[in-house]
Amino acid sequence: MTVRILAISGSLRRNSYNTRLLRAAAPLAPPGTELTLWDELRDVPPFDEDDEHGVPHAAVSGLRAAVADADALLIATPEYNGSIPGQLKNALDWLSRPYRTNPARGKPAAVLGASTGRLGAVWGQADTRKVLGALGARVLDRELLLARAQHAFATDDDRVVRDGFDHHLADLLRSLVDAAAPAAAPAA
Ligand SMILES: Cc1cc2nc3c(=O)[nH]c(=O)nc-3n(C[C@H](O)[C@H](O)[C@H](O)COP(=O)(O)O)c2cc1C
Repeated sequence: MTVRILAISGSLRRNSYNTRLLRAAAPLAPPGTELTLWDELRDVPPFDEDDEHGVPHAAVSGLRAAVADADALLIATPEYNGSIPGQLKNALDWLSRPYRTNPARGKPAAVLGASTGRLGAVWGQADTRKVLGALGARVLDRELLLARAQHAFATDDDRVVRDGFDHHLADLLRSLVDAAAPAAAPAA
């Protein structure tokens, strides 16, 4: 049984280190895992409660469907001014509605992050975990920090070349897949 991980980058930047981090994650996922990068964050409109009950914007329904189809969520986020980037928070606000039946509820979720500073988006990750918890996701109580990301990647592809990082990333993915496994397993 394949475990489907939906990967979301909190950055819109073309050469985002966080998006590259998710590309680096794909080959490190355990066998039997399918990791899909959702790349429509830019298209999600600003959340407006007035629009909550109308026909949803295509990017919003796309996000909801992608999350509903996934067994687990993997979010790589930058930190903007000590917190979660606005565009990511906005998408999670859309995802959170309707509150009781939102597709992230009960879904295992892991957060990691890259920054160009010394702390590896530690507060951005913490706030993303907090928001995912508010949605009712089963958030792994772990962080994975990639500090000074401008020096961390291979020059010719998205591999992270920092010592030991691949091991930590593979371990995080293993924990996420383990958390998803009961839900992904076929019924007895
Ligand atoms: C508006 C803004 C605020 C930022 N605030 C922080 C911050 O609080 N902490 C930090 O470590 N880096 C901060 N940075 C630097 C980011 O770590 C850096 O731009 C990083 O490359 C963003 O991730 P990305 O490469 O995935 O886009 C900030 C960058 C921007 C544009």
